[in-house]
Amino acid sequence: MSPVRYALSDRIAVLTVDNPPVNALSQAVRAALADAVSRFAADEDAEIAVILGAGRLFIGGADISEFGKPPADPWLPEVIAAIEDCPKPIVAAIHGTALGGGLEVALGCHWRMAMPGTKLGLPEVTLGILPGAGGTQRLPRLVGLQAAAKMIASGKPMTAEAALDAGLIDHLGQGDDVLAAARSWAADLLAQGVVARPTGRMAAPSGDLSDMRAGMQAKSRGEVAPVTALDAVAASTSLSFADGMAEERRLFRELMDTPQRAGLIHAFFAERATAKLPEIAGIAPREIDRLGVIGGGTMGAGIATSALLAGLPVVLVERDEAAAGRARDTIAANLAAAVKRGKLDPDRRDTLLDVSLVTATDYDALAPADLLIEAVFESMEVKQEVFARLDAVARPGAVLATNTSYLDVDAIAAVTSRPQDVIGLHFFSPAHIMKLLEIVVARDTAPDVTATAFALARRLGKIPVRAGVCDGFIGNRILSHYRTAADHMVLDGASPYAIDRAIRDFGFAMGPYQVSDLAGLDIGFATRQRKAADVHPRDRAPTFADALYHAGRLGRKTKRGYYDYSDDPKGREDTETLRLVQEARTDASREFTDEEIVRRYMAAMVNEAARVVGDGIASRPLDVDVVFLHGYGFPRWRGGPMHWADTYGLDRILADIREFARDDDHFWQPAPLLTELADKGATFESLNRKDTK
Ligand code: COA
Ligand code: NAD
Repeated sequence: MSPVRYALSDRIAVLTVDNPPVNALSQAVRAALADAVSRFAADEDAEIAVILGAGRLFIGGADISEFGKPPADPWLPEVIAAIEDCPKPIVAAIHGTALGGGLEVALGCHWRMAMPGTKLGLPEVTLGILPGAGGTQRLPRLVGLQAAAKMIASGKPMTAEAALDAGLIDHLGQGDDVLAAARSWAADLLAQGVVARPTGRMAAPSGDLSDMRAGMQAKSRGEVAPVTALDAVAASTSLSFADGMAEERRLFRELMDTPQRAGLIHAFFAERATAKLPEIAGIAPREIDRLGVIGGGTMGAGIATSALLAGLPVVLVERDEAAAGRARDTIAANLAAAVKRGKLDPDRRDTLLDVSLVTATDYDALAPADLLIEAVFESMEVKQEVFARLDAVARPGAVLATNTSYLDVDAIAAVTSRPQDVIGLHFFSPAHIMKLLEIVVARDTAPDVTATAFALARRLGKIPVRAGVCDGFIGNRILSHYRTAADHMVLDGASPYAIDRAIRDFGFAMGPYQVSDLAGLDIGFATRQRKAADVHPRDRAPTFADALYHAGRLGRKTKRGYYDYSDDPKGREDTETLRLVQEARTDASREFTDEEIVRRYMAAMVNEAARVVGDGIASRPLDVDVVFLHGYGFPRWRGGPMHWADTYGLDRILADIREFARDDDHFWQPAPLLTELADKGATFESLNRKDTK
């Protein structure tokens, strides 16, 4: 069966692209589309053609799984040129989504329509490339230089309605049947006697992108695709269409060969693979119609907001009326922000607050909930007390979840009479915005409870990653370790500001000491107190962090932490901090280059990540990558720490660790998995199961 069907009636040829799940433009589709266009050109009974997609969308883009492999004929630019050069008019009828190569096919058509609610975009830069099938040359001819540049460099889609205003499409279809709407419009166009109207022969756009380019360069932090894509768009103003196409191709090839492209595509597939868990394949999740949330502080209120936005009613229990009122206010403010961003309409906001959200102080109110999430203080004693009470009020079969950041979920489950129903759901702050959800499967967690947690993640629009029980699970456990490596450098003479700068230059959104200021230095202090009993005699305490804490410098919330925020919301470097740090040092100081800072930071991260995978806390290296991309500001174009480690070389990381161990062989102990892979010349990628790709 050809992936492009050809059907003719009433002089209208309908070319249907049918390549589930997203009609990606694989080699077979490209060849079949080219054949179908030739057939239409030669078909004397056909006067106009419509290209549309079968199933839920038009065309999801180039086949990403072909990237990095040798190109196979016919090329997409050639197929699109054949569409554009066809002497009879060809219409693109778009529904659902038209992305990347899919939208480029539409740009090559002579007329374009879209159904209401359709999304149209050129997201190539998010995959480290640029639209390489004429998008950078045709789009500016249709919508103007600035609008095209913005769309291509951001990768963000537009709605059909905005596309109509911009001149990207010519017509908005009616109803919900794309085929009927397309046939009806094609018949109208035929009646009007329209002819082929090649986009490539339209007038070249004019204008200048140098300001946009300078702005983008400044905030790119090393990412190359958006700026390069702008250069391709700019070429449309000065070059002929044919030369512009050649320039686009040259820049496209350049990007295709970068490690950034490989990193971004790894990220794309990894974040889809984490949801596929063999242990829950075929297991039906429990039904969830109502959520219970215990504790309405930062996290509880965020989790409740996330559930409400997803259409799940919530009962939230706090300690007293005042706290319940504060929780309701936080949720109302979160929803107001969603209204302001255009994500929620005001009527629905009112319903969510007045009907879907119930706040209470009595645990009995939780009895009807199907899944209960505890988000009270981070203390085993408090959590165990809460779980004992939940055990008494929750209905049989309800799932009992904890949002703990570090604590032992098995020990929490142990105080209930139903440990099989207990699981960890580790949300990230702000919980209604951050996409990551670590799903912590405890010793006795039943498989259908795990399946329920994954189903809930899907419903909330989260990216779920399975984690096992240990102190800090995947993300926070690894974080503790590389934070310690950073603290050691500060103890040995590096300034916290130099470390932050080097880490930002690597591509992280923030350096570790900026993160401390955001989280609050009291959190780190409390964690050190909690773990005081486990301290090894050779562990090196971050005495400077204690000094800042005792000086009342708790971070942003007190206007001073590592940085001074009193007259600059971004924070200024402060000599007082440097003085406190210097006084707290006990060993001789030395210099650290940026390169050494990054080497130590990354070696510690990868080493602990290798232990996390080796211990089975993370199922695969790609699970670690997704946690870091979505929870810890790791630069997406580097693919995640494990993908980065493969490109840097596991043997080099091992050599770095052995070099650092000469000074401190207590902290720098190579993870067995890292040693094993490096000795074999293998990669972390070899452990990412092939059947999930
Ligand atoms: N090439 C190859 N495979 C693709 C693909 C593409 N362009 N787009 C999606 N897929 C695969 C996914 O990997 C997934 O496979 P899986 O089921 O084995 O995991 C499947 O198609 C469904 O994709 P998913 O993202 O889960 O579906 P969705 O309905 O949530 O979203 C899209 C559909 C098209 C919006 C989304 O997949 C997307 O953004 N794709 C990338 C589009 C893109 O960047 N195209 C430009 C390429 S130049
Ligand atoms: P928070 O102090 O903002 O909120 C805790 C809330 O729990 C308070 O409003 C308190 O009144 C309430 N509470 C305490 N005991 C209670 C009880 N017995 N019954 C009902 N309510 C009770 O804390 P938070 O930052 O929201 O953290 C909550 C949990 O989430 C902790 O376990 C924390 O480790 C975890 N967590 C926090 C973050 C974060 O970034 N803040 C991220 C992930 C996970």
